Amino acid sequence: MRDCLRSGVGSTLVAPSILSADFASMGDECAGVIASGADLLHVDVMDGHFAPNLTMGPDMCRALRRRLPDVCLDVHLMVTYPQQFFERFVDAGADHLSFHIEVTTADQAASMADDIRQLGATAGIAINPTTPVRAISEIVHQFEMVLVMSVQPGFSGQAFRGEVLGKVQALRELGYEGWIEMDGGLNPSNAGLVRRAGVNVLVAASAIFNEPSDKRGEVIAHLRSGD
Ligand code: DX5
Ligand code: ZN
Repeated sequence: MRDCLRSGVGSTLVAPSILSADFASMGDECAGVIASGADLLHVDVMDGHFAPNLTMGPDMCRALRRRLPDVCLDVHLMVTYPQQFFERFVDAGADHLSFHIEVTTADQAASMADDIRQLGATAGIAINPTTPVRAISEIVHQFEMVLVMSVQPGFSGQAFRGEVLGKVQALRELGYEGWIEMDGGLNPSNAGLVRRAGVNVLVAASAIFNEPSDKRGEVIAHLRSGD
């Protein structure tokens, strides 16, 4: 059983978002970034309704699991009805499922986290840039990970919104000791700031995949520990 996000919260993880990978060579692209030191693959799922884009589904996880049997698949569900997809993504090989608080209530979200763990995956709650921490403060301890969006869901390549860093500090002040993932506009120039705020899972799509494949290891190392 892959550990992925079940423990080890002390380290810093780098999760390339495959949204910016070359879809025509997805298997090689993902094998390449894992060989270059990435810890997880961040799979951005959008339904064209919660987020204004249509990206990928469970079959992408199935294909990646077949190609990379030991990889950790961190699925980010930017969809209006995430509970419809929990079982299909876990059956397809997902290790972790994050869904958005904006599509449900705090009570329902806590119960959805239990549903995800019943299926054998870890659970994450995601908040958009304009959603306050208080939307999740009562339930945050029921999740292995909190995903703090630093862009509005929809597309890679957007500008980093630094105002969300205060939310990370607020979560740590709440005593949240789990994984905090930041997603959107991360690159080597802001990674140090993001880590110092308390983030320990850094997602990057364009900062990694816009580089030639032989340069991606350097970017991943910089995101993990560069200043
Ligand atoms: C946005 C996605 C992000 C995005 C990150 O809706 O959730 O994961 O792909 O892309 P970059 O790192 O290029 O901002
Ligand atoms: Zn994402």
